[in-house]
Amino acid sequence: MTASESPRRSTEALIGYTPQHDTGSKLVIVMVGLPATGKSYVAKKLSRYLNWLQHKTQVFNVGDRRREAASNKSEAAPHSLSHATFFDPTSSECVSLRDQLAINTLNELLEWLFNSGGNIGILDATNSTPARRQLVLDHIRKRRRDDLKVLFLESRCSDATLREANIRLKLFGPDYAGKDPEASLADFRLRVVHYEAAYVPLGQAEEKQGLSFVQMTDAGRKMNTHLIRGYILSQIVEYLLNFNLARRQIWLSCNGESLDDREGRIGRYSDLSDRGHLYAAALASFIEEQRQSWHAEPVSGHNPDEPQFCVWTSTWPQAVQTGRLFSSDTYDQTHTKMLDDLNAGTMAGLTFEEISKRYPDEYAARKLDKLNYRWPGLGGEGYIDLIVRLRPLIVELERTTDNLLLITHRAVVRILVTYFLGIQRDGLGDVQMPKDTIYCFDIEPYGISFRPFVYNSELGTFNQVPNSEVPFASRR
Ligand code: SIN
Repeated sequence: MTASESPRRSTEALIGYTPQHDTGSKLVIVMVGLPATGKSYVAKKLSRYLNWLQHKTQVFNVGDRRREAASNKSEAAPHSLSHATFFDPTSSECVSLRDQLAINTLNELLEWLFNSGGNIGILDATNSTPARRQLVLDHIRKRRRDDLKVLFLESRCSDATLREANIRLKLFGPDYAGKDPEASLADFRLRVVHYEAAYVPLGQAEEKQGLSFVQMTDAGRKMNTHLIRGYILSQIVEYLLNFNLARRQIWLSCNGESLDDREGRIGRYSDLSDRGHLYAAALASFIEEQRQSWHAEPVSGHNPDEPQFCVWTSTWPQAVQTGRLFSSDTYDQTHTKMLDDLNAGTMAGLTFEEISKRYPDEYAARKLDKLNYRWPGLGGEGYIDLIVRLRPLIVELERTTDNLLLITHRAVVRILVTYFLGIQRDGLGDVQMPKDTIYCFDIEPYGISFRPFVYNSELGTFNQVPNSEVPFASRR
């Protein structure tokens, strides 16, 4: 028996699945900026977001190719490829070697874009001179018609403290790890001086050429954009605009057990069961402990008076009831439809066993391709719809400096976890979501770490478990 039909793939034009034959729908993002201004951080984070939106995106880092070349003994180089002198802009020999490395990396990117199904390739390099940028642009145009979109994305850092922190982080990076820190710092500072001598930021020249570009300063504090047109470029700019480097925590929890959960029924409003009410009480006291220890923690990078602790729930009763014990004196509460459970269409209220018997075709289709499957019937949703629905929430999560607890539903937690952990499209269907596990994502200025906690219903507590015990941790 087939349930009432609904168009299954209508979201694909809007999100991901860029047609492979249409070069106009592919994009090269060319990073620009001095060393230690956050380019790689921006490139990786943007790539994680775009992949989550189902645009197949990959970062191609020229520094990595340089290090590979340096370790390849057959490529005898006249200079050490990691010493500051290699970056001297007055040495034509070094400039040409560096250009060659950039073009080799770009070739790899274009190959992946056109022959391996990529949608968006990010060339992560300094590209800090007009000559280099022209070389890159000419090369892209030579390889392909000029209907392949190109976006220049510059990361600038005018905050001296941030810049110094970025520079010091380089000591742990692949060029300097394990080497004498003082000599490394001096070498890197000299590299920066060499780059600065030839650096020209994006600006009038690119405007005159009619190129699309974004210039972001201090992780989105200030933005300058030119010729940002179309869906994907607008999404990129909106995302970048909302970056912030504040340390904060984002907690994810499913609703406590509902009466429907107890029977395995999906997709409709339901009140909490007794067990669900106990979970709600345990969650409120556990998060209160966490809130207090956050405020007591004397860590630089956050102002203990500043971050609010907010609780956002879906509008479904089982989620609202799970958040009810959080005191409004301490926690800002919001209920948002963005966090609502997947609309199960005509299957709402059924168990999976009932679905398999009454709608075997639907059951099999979902099993075959969880990512693209959409529940049939009015309003029925699939994971791709959920990504579309959650996109503004992700932007909001990037913007806020508050600590947050999101109380939502299994499918939504799954999609949010895949965003934070950068799990790729093919791994999404495998992400198991034990309902009694909550996740803390510690958002740090330079990355995200995560801690899972499992509910102990006998003791009414949550215990941290190693990440390795979480089934999807290896799918990053
Ligand atoms: C690097 O080699 O580390 C960067 C090279 C470049 O951006 O041109």
